[in-house]
Amino acid sequence: METLFVALDFDSTEECFDFLNQFKGQSISVKIGMAEYFRSGADMIENLAQRGHHIFLDLKCHDIPNTVELAVEQLSNLPIKYLTVHALGGMTMLKAAINGRNKGRFHPKILAVTQLTSTSEDMLQQLGFKEVSMTDSTIQLAKMAYDAGVDGVVASVHEVEAIKQATDDSFIVLTPGIRMEQSIHDDQHRIATPKQAKVHQSDLIVVGRPIIKAKEPVEMYRKYLKDWRD
Ligand code: C5P
Repeated sequence: METLFVALDFDSTEECFDFLNQFKGQSISVKIGMAEYFRSGADMIENLAQRGHHIFLDLKCHDIPNTVELAVEQLSNLPIKYLTVHALGGMTMLKAAINGRNKGRFHPKILAVTQLTSTSEDMLQQLGFKEVSMTDSTIQLAKMAYDAGVDGVVASVHEVEAIKQATDDSFIVLTPGIRMEQSIHDDQHRIATPKQAKVHQSDLIVVGRPIIKAKEPVEMYRKYLKDWRD
């Protein structure tokens, strides 16, 4: 499985397939987010899996434990490899997500989102995390997720090493906010290049707009992949 997931954040399902068709039979690993899932649902997931894509379903489930357990069970009946829930839902919710996953057919790995990579220190203050830094709150959430028994977390590249130290090396850390062109942040605040992600021990990376909006998306995908692998 390729460990670089391309976020298919398009305005329509048609655009999504136009993009994938440019890879001429190469089944890249893909991330499906809320927009595409709400538009085309389980059919899209089945279709992508049949085309050989490994799928990361990024729905960031966050609700009371019982509701999350029921939802994750349903989603675990889809042919997906990874599924996200929000660490902020708490320990009991994370354990409920694992129970739901264990009842489904496909047993995706559960990743808990710590702080979004679009969150800045200022936003953290607005959200009421007044006494705690971004790094400390991310590590705290990651430790809780580890203790709950999930497979890994989503965090920024800048926190990966501290998370590995606080948990263990086999605890998966997936990092979005990846940019080779440092001047183009979009709405991401805490960014890094694929190479920096590798150096900081990220296990998986997600790249969206820099690839899907590129003039030559296939070429750009290869460029990101090379930087990540080398
Ligand atoms: O276009 P870009 O590379 O910024 O896309 C990053 C993708 O990763 C988006 O689909 C976004 O929803 C997702 N993501 C993120 N930060 C997280 C978790 C997921 O940016 N903490």
